[in-house]
Amino acid sequence: MIKTTPQEPKGLYLETFGCQMNVSDSEKIVSLLREVGYHTVDDPGTADLILLNTCSVRAKAESKVYDYLGRYKVRKMRDDRLIIGVGGCVAQQEGERLLKKVPYLDLVFGTHSLHLLPELVRAAERGERRAVTDFIDTETRLNLFPEADDTGAVSRFVTIMQGCDNFCSYCIVPYVRGREISRRSAEIITEIREMTARGVKEVTLLGQNVNSYGLKTPDELHFADLIRRIAAIDGIERIRFTTSHPRDISPELIACFAELPALCGHIHLPAQSGSDEVLARMNRGYTRSEYLATVAALREARPALLMTGDIIVGFPGETEDDFEATLSLLEEVRYVDLFSFVYSERPETAAAGFSDRLTRTVKQGRLERLQRRQREITRDICDAMVGTVQRVLVEGLSRRGDQLTGRTEGNRVVNFAGDPVHIGQLVDVTIIHAYPNSLLGEIHREDETCTGR
Ligand code: 5AD
Ligand code: SF4
Repeated sequence: MIKTTPQEPKGLYLETFGCQMNVSDSEKIVSLLREVGYHTVDDPGTADLILLNTCSVRAKAESKVYDYLGRYKVRKMRDDRLIIGVGGCVAQQEGERLLKKVPYLDLVFGTHSLHLLPELVRAAERGERRAVTDFIDTETRLNLFPEADDTGAVSRFVTIMQGCDNFCSYCIVPYVRGREISRRSAEIITEIREMTARGVKEVTLLGQNVNSYGLKTPDELHFADLIRRIAAIDGIERIRFTTSHPRDISPELIACFAELPALCGHIHLPAQSGSDEVLARMNRGYTRSEYLATVAALREARPALLMTGDIIVGFPGETEDDFEATLSLLEEVRYVDLFSFVYSERPETAAAGFSDRLTRTVKQGRLERLQRRQREITRDICDAMVGTVQRVLVEGLSRRGDQLTGRTEGNRVVNFAGDPVHIGQLVDVTIIHAYPNSLLGEIHREDETCTGR
């Protein structure tokens, strides 16, 4: 059965869950499907194709997918021409099973199958239900990154590697994203050159473990060299990267923070726990004191560095003393922001077989204590920025539309009154107020001194 004719303009509604990698994949999905006649719409009610780009890092994220699918079921019952698809990490994990579990689902595409999406959608238009979740070989996949849409943005994400070989005992990522694969540096540099020609000023290098970039590829640049090459590209004002594994922060990368002004003074460096016993059971490959030594070296290289991190509380066997060690890590590091999670058991992972599971109440209580303390630290660091002058890359209009918005080098959002002519420019801004999630500023007058970070 033919569901639509090729000439009809078709609407794509795409819902993205999870991390920046998924956000970046979603941009690629949009540009791939535009080539076969689908344009994004904001309302799933008007879409011909509904896609969910999913996350399975924690059980809650996974169950959300089924809630969303349930919502679209009614429409599908009324209109058989509607195509519904699931991609990303839940799709990779479940594959064919998902087609069986959700009888009204038309297609499933895994994390290595984005490039097959136009073909899958065509098949669904013909009434065929398919699931593709093969991990494909390195060489093929590296050539298959479609160019992302040109959005006229000032700041862009650039995927430099995918997958993870670390197998932290709690984490599903190695199973749903596959082994580490680095893109070729020549391709990355060409892509960034093209971006700067279109007005991009800032790139965020993206990967599950960016600082192991190139380590598995003979003759490829290592991460610090890649950053140096990118910093030398005309038009690049700022470079960021995420996410880094603390064990793989090399002296060469630390030197980049000392030597390259374009490398922003912010690092997201997940510790996961402050207890050596828990870190060992998590298979993180570093101790608390090694983590703190890395932090100290980074701060020596770049004294104004702002840090963010990830913490998991309630890992199997976490004692009150272990948790106290995590709280004291917060005091020592002083993250400007922290992403904290209750441990969630994930299929296939080593920790799923660990005993000494904690009760929900204990886990939740610890999360609340941790978050309460972090809120105070965040407030103190941000309050201390009031009165300083920060260099802000202006990215556009604020959400309310009446101010400009941008970010400091340390990745804090700043809103301030100003002429839209500044969009895409670096502007010195005096911070006049700190809110929990953003700063309020005013354009710096020349007679003031610059103390920004
Ligand atoms: N349970 C809770 N949090 C997890 N993360 C990864 N796996 C789990 C899990 N099973 C967190 C880690 C990681 C972040 C992206 O998600 O803190 O850094
Ligand atoms: Fe997961 Fe660990 Fe890999 Fe990060 S480094 S993606 S936490 S396995």
